[in-house]
Amino acid sequence: MSDLPTIEYESLARSNAQFMADLEAAATRVIRSGWYVLGQEVAAFEQEFAAHLGARHCIGVANGLDALILSIEALQLPRGSEVLVASNTYIATILAIVKAGHVPVLVEPVLETFNIDPGRLAAALTPRTRAICVTHLFGKSCRMDAIGAFAREHGLCLVEDCAQSHLASQGGHLTGTFGDAGCFSFYPTKNLGAIGDAGAVVTDDDDIADRLRHLRNYGSKQKYHNRYVGVNSRLDEMQAALLRVKLRHLQAMTDHKRDLADVYFGHLPEWLELPVRRDDEFDVFHIFAVRHPRRDGLRRFLLEKGIKTEVHYPVPPHRQDAMAGILAGDYPIADELHRTELSLPISTGHTQQEVLRVCETIRGFRP
Ligand SMILES: Cc1ncc(COP(=O)(O)O)c(C=O)c1O
Repeated sequence: MSDLPTIEYESLARSNAQFMADLEAAATRVIRSGWYVLGQEVAAFEQEFAAHLGARHCIGVANGLDALILSIEALQLPRGSEVLVASNTYIATILAIVKAGHVPVLVEPVLETFNIDPGRLAAALTPRTRAICVTHLFGKSCRMDAIGAFAREHGLCLVEDCAQSHLASQGGHLTGTFGDAGCFSFYPTKNLGAIGDAGAVVTDDDDIADRLRHLRNYGSKQKYHNRYVGVNSRLDEMQAALLRVKLRHLQAMTDHKRDLADVYFGHLPEWLELPVRRDDEFDVFHIFAVRHPRRDGLRRFLLEKGIKTEVHYPVPPHRQDAMAGILAGDYPIADELHRTELSLPISTGHTQQEVLRVCETIRGFRP
């Protein structure tokens, strides 16, 4: 074991410490207000987050999974529609399609970017295809120029899973604002993280926004009048107030992570597969994902030296027990990514010195 202090993969207490006084003041304000669900804080956060993204509407919900489920429901697609989705996405994207009553059709990603391959969409198209649900994985935008053109050409709805991509953009256009709905998670580890579960949808479509406002609240906008079969998935006042504090720092937190990424790019050895960068993409590095054939050995080596890492994700969706009977077929690119991916520490609580130590330690690994 190393004598140096452990570098955690993520320490939320440390990441949030810089905002502590404002977070505590916001929490106290909510407790004293006596109004805890769907009040002024939620309305203000929705307005501020929509303005941040340049979207017409933001609808706060309880978490990122519900943001996806309710957005897909709000599209009002025929039951059993096929929805194209990346074979290596986090399981939530696929669960949302299934929970909304549709059929996920997996499309393999580009190996180097982890994101859905626009060149493979056409082969997955059938007369039942109605939508594409893209995931901007690890904080990198999918190629929305090509995907948007494909969706328009074939009359498909477009939902974006932005759980990992707050402020990421492609061609100067923010993720979440390309399609019919942009679905955000504010799970505590996300680039904009609450102090508990929270989520939101942004959309420019007035009808989708109106349906979402009903769906998140028992299908009702007017008390005791239920227009849709909805759920209880409201963003609460406490999380909205806390998110408002952190939203003010989102750009600075993003810049910090991008600076840490620059340290990785400058100091990691060339035998490691690094994230791909393109001039027209603004990556926000929710996760700094490298690849190596001896991923597990490298991970153990780093742990022995006091450096904690993660794997996103150890089991691909098509190999999950829950997906037996739902997902069929072979997905060798997803398998390869799940076998080789390693996530290095990159949070608002980490310092450049710590990232340098990670780089130097990795250089000591014999590949
Ligand atoms: C890509 C992706 N989609 C959806 C979700 C679901 O978000 P939540 O955990 O807020 O339900 C997450 C995060 O957990 C995610 O990483």
